[in-house]
Order: sequence, then structure tokens, then C-alpha cells
Amino acid sequence: MTAFSHFKLWSIGGGKGGVGKSVFTLGLGIALARLGKRVILVDGDLGGANLHTMVGLRYPPHTLEDFLLKKAPRLQDLVLDTPIAGVGLLCGADDMLGAANPTYFQKIRLLRELETLPVDFVLIDLGAGTSFNTLDLFNHSPGRIAVFTGLSTSLQNAYGFIKCALFRKLSREFSRQIEVLQLLYEESAFGDRTTACMDDLLKKIRRAAPEQWFRLAKVIKSYQVYLVTNMVKNDQDMMSAEIIRSVCEDFLNLHTEVLGHVLHDPIAEVAINQMVPSLLYERQNRLATGFTSIAKRILRLSRRLPGSKGPARKEEEQAPVVEVRREA
Ligand SMILES: Nc1ncnc2c1ncn2[C@@H]1O[C@H](COP(=O)(O)OP(=O)(O)OP(=O)(O)O)[C@@H](O)[C@H]1O
Ligand SMILES: [Mg+2]
Repeated sequence: MTAFSHFKLWSIGGGKGGVGKSVFTLGLGIALARLGKRVILVDGDLGGANLHTMVGLRYPPHTLEDFLLKKAPRLQDLVLDTPIAGVGLLCGADDMLGAANPTYFQKIRLLRELETLPVDFVLIDLGAGTSFNTLDLFNHSPGRIAVFTGLSTSLQNAYGFIKCALFRKLSREFSRQIEVLQLLYEESAFGDRTTACMDDLLKKIRRAAPEQWFRLAKVIKSYQVYLVTNMVKNDQDMMSAEIIRSVCEDFLNLHTEVLGHVLHDPIAEVAINQMVPSLLYERQNRLATGFTSIAKRILRLSRRLPGSKGPARKEEEQAPVVEVRREA
């Protein structure tokens, strides 16, 4: 699959179910829209779609399935309005034969079209787990966010997810280099998830395929993942992202960056159960601060991602006031 690089595509994964990937995608979308950006949320949980329910749409008239099964030629025509100004939605393909498990070419078509949507940001909410579909959507977004909570199982899953995504990326990049592929396969199939060390693997690859070693190290170096802790209740939870960051660095040689955190607030449950997404972003609640600060961070980052053209500029992101000092 060709690498797409465009600032607007961000995918939100994390491995574990129920950590708040969908809530985060929705909250981030609302925050970006409130900052003046046009946003489309994509339910990338193929086969288990529920983002539409969260935004208050019970029976979506169109879904990604119409595109994947070629019933609708243009993705743009399938974008639904939501109750949130500036936020559109592409509903997930739900439990229909074939659509939940798109072929390689269907995925390519989907990613190409997502890139061309006429908005500032496309946020893909991924399902739980580490299926190839999930990993491919994650890997082909220049903005990759892993969401987790402070629970140790969630941290373990988030690390496992990042590792699987990296190995999937490497095995696609080196799909024709059999020696490398073999070592990657052995590592991901038999390696201990928490103790496997990229340095050892790199050494083995250097011995088996010295000409590939440099390129491999380069791919790892350019692979970026951003970290978000959700449902933060205390200082210990706040440390979670730092733990993931250092484990990724120590064991995978991977540079990850902490994007921020979202506090725990029972209003999230009310928003979801009552299908009123705007509750996620009310001025007085504890969630909005996290979503806004992460949205602002993303606006800044979008400009330095590979291939970034930078989102349309609006008042809050116009050129910073530069203090010009005159030499004495
Ligand atoms: N910041 C938060 N504070 C309190 N509760 C939260 C928060 N974020 C999410 N939740 C709760 O967690 C539940 C699960 O969230 P969500 O559906 O977004 O998880 P998910 O990671 O998308 O799960 P899945 O992998 O099954 O799609 C929500 O219904 C909500 O009640
Ligand atoms: Mg979800």
C-alpha cells in the first residue's frame, strides 16, 4: 500500500476496547470545529460501527459500505450532517457481508478518497484490537494517536497495539525482502511482547541482510505515534503516557510524543447514553479542557507532518505576533 501523507488524516486507535477512543474522536472533532476547522469523523470500526449513535443518529441512511461495495462512487456524497456545526460523519460499515473485511484494493480506494475530502481534518475512529484493517488505517494516517487509560491492562494493550502497528508497517515496507520478513515474523510471532527489544532485532537483520538495515532503522525513526491518556483520575494516571513513551523508546527504539490527557468526567457516559454529543464539550465540564488543548496541539503539529500543506488558517492560528527587536 502506498504511504499517504497528508496533514488532515488522523487515526485514533489503542488496542483495548472501552478506553474511550470513540469519545475522544468525537470530543476532538467538536474541539477542532469550535476552533473554526471543518472536520469529518470516520467510523473506522468496520463491523462494529457505533459512532453514529454517539452523535445522535439512530438509522444512518448511508455508510462506508455503500462506498466499499461501489454502490456510491464518491465518499463525499456519503458524509452525513451531525448536530455539531462543522462536523460531518462517515458512518461505519456494519456487519454486512464483505464490508467489514475490505480487500486490500478497497482499503486503498477508501484511503485515497478520505484524503480528498474537502475539509481541514479527517479523524478516523478505529475499533479495538489489532486486525490488519485497523493497523492499516492507523499506519496510513500521518497523524496516529494511541488512546489508553491508566489501567495496567490498558497500558499493556496500548504498547502491544503500537508494537503490532510498527511491525505491520515494517512487514509491508519490506514485503519483498524475505530475510527481513522472516525475522520480523519470528519476532512478532514468538517474541515476548514486553521484553522483545528492537536493538536485538536490528542486530539480527544487520547480520542477515546488511543492505536493508539502514533503511529499516530509517523507517522506525520516521514512524511517529502520539499518546493520549483518557479518563484521568489522579497523578498516577497522569504518568501513564510517560510510561508508554519510555517503554516504546527502550524496547522499540520508537519515538512517541505525549499529546495530552482527558480527565474522567461522568458526563461522558450521560452524553453517550442520551445521544447528546454536545454534552462532551460544555464549558463547565472537565473533558472540554483536555479536548481543546489537544486540538490546539494538533493544529500546530499538522503543519510539520510529512506532506503537510497546513490547514486553512483561521483567526486563532494566524501568524504569531513576532517581537521585532531593533539592534542598538
Ligand atoms: N473521559 C471520560 N470520562 C468518563 N467516562 C468516559 C470518558 N471517556 C469515555 N468514557 C466512558 O467509556 C465508555 C466507552 O467509551 P468508548 O465507546 O469511546 O470506548 P472505545 O475505546 O471506543 O470502545 P470500543 O473499542 O469498544 O469501540 C463511554 O461510553 C463512556 O461512558
Ligand atoms: Mg469505539
